[in-house]
Amino acid sequence: MQHNALMELYVDELKDLYDAESRLVKALPKVAKAASSEKLRTAVEEHLEQTRGHVDRLKEIFDNLGEKATGKKCAGMMGILKEGEEIMDEDFEAEVMDAALISAAQRVEHYERKRSQCPAGQDAGGGERDGRKTYATGRGDQRASQGKRK
Ligand SMILES: [Fe+2]
Repeated sequence: MQHNALMELYVDELKDLYDAESRLVKALPKVAKAASSEKLRTAVEEHLEQTRGHVDRLKEIFDNLGEKATGKKCAGMMGILKEGEEIMDEDFEAEVMDAALISAAQRVEHYERKRSQCPAGQDAGGGERDGRKTYATGRGDQRASQGKRK
């Protein structure tokens, strides 16, 4: 009983994460365009590639679990991306815009990182552990890109 409930929560969290990462894939090209510095644009493009990788990994996990990836809207990511839209609508000078975009990107990355650590996945046991592992392998890429931006 408890196992099923935790498993349900885990799948629900994965669906939320899938929606979050998919939204990010759609949003990042616009952020790359808004960036003035070449270094920042490259970092955003790299983040986009990594996020595409996360979406693919999540699809794999859903396949393995025999579940559908759809059915949830991530209100958290929607809010963070809305703030990003507001920044891009501002009439900032190039340098200020870049600083604001970096700040927005940090919010996104913080959210992504924490969201990938669902405790239900640790307790549900069985095949889903493989899913956690599969998804977790993407996190290192993200840390690498963060390091580059600093
Ligand atoms: Fe969410």
